[in-house]
Amino acid sequence: MTRFDGKVAVVTGAAGDIGSRLCRALAAENAEVIGADVDEAAGARLTAEMHAAGTSFTFRHLDVADPRSVAAFARTVGRVDVLVNAAGVLSYAPLSETAVEEWDRVLDINVRGAFLVTKELTSALADGATVVNLSSSAAVRAGAGWSAYSASKAALVALTKVTAAELAPRCRVNAVCPGALDTRMPHRLLDGHPAKETILHGMAEASMLKRLGEADEVVPICLFLASEEAGLITGASIIADGGTTAW
Ligand SMILES: NC(=O)c1ccc[n+]([C@@H]2O[C@H](COP(=O)([O-])OP(=O)(O)OC[C@H]3O[C@@H](n4cnc5c(N)ncnc54)[C@H](O)[C@@H]3O)[C@@H](O)[C@H]2O)c1
Repeated sequence: MTRFDGKVAVVTGAAGDIGSRLCRALAAENAEVIGADVDEAAGARLTAEMHAAGTSFTFRHLDVADPRSVAAFARTVGRVDVLVNAAGVLSYAPLSETAVEEWDRVLDINVRGAFLVTKELTSALADGATVVNLSSSAAVRAGAGWSAYSASKAALVALTKVTAAELAPRCRVNAVCPGALDTRMPHRLLDGHPAKETILHGMAEASMLKRLGEADEVVPICLFLASEEAGLITGASIIADGGTTAW
């Protein structure tokens, strides 16, 4: 018997570092996993890998920021026991240099996306279903250059609390706020930057643990919150940043 036996789990951002690991971990605990992402090529690779491993996995194209795409996706989904909103994008620029279009893109994917997906799947959520939103410690920590990203992740924390209030006591809704992770997301942003190694070193040094986190360290927190083990936890945002915001 595993924590997710017979459960249907939907993971957005399924092609990403954290999303793909969540899909593997949920499937390993016998969940029927539906992964969704805009990246169809990576989705196809994940599907091949999951099927080769004999796990139950379906990949669907989804643009979380597009209401029509989300509505069409929701029509393909039946009962949902676990929803993880992991789709997200990173953005870095001083406030004065942040284009309005970039601000909108980040907020549209990181906040409107979670809003739309949760809204469209609300009626599909089974009694006892759980929602986990991937926020960030940027929601609570000021860092120059992160205006759009921080605002989007802070809004996601607020959305998590309100959704938890609205869906209680039938469903639980929580957020995970990782600090800087050693994943493709920050590397993509910093690739080509002359001070890349210094910036990454600075992020690690800012934490009490003096290191970046790993995607594999975020997954168990998400699964815990999604499972009955966290039966008393709702509306919470769990910070996992090696102590960076606790100084
Ligand atoms: N990696 C980190 O350092 C870190 C730290 C804190 C929080 N997070 C958050 O965790 C989540 C997952 O991050 P990750 O490291 O796996 O990043 P990632 O870039 O590897 O994965 C993000 C995924 O979201 C998908 N995506 C982007 N726009 C989309 C859209 N409009 N519709 C559907 N899918 C879309 C991408 O295709 C990608 O597969 C994100 O919300 C991110 O903000 C990441």
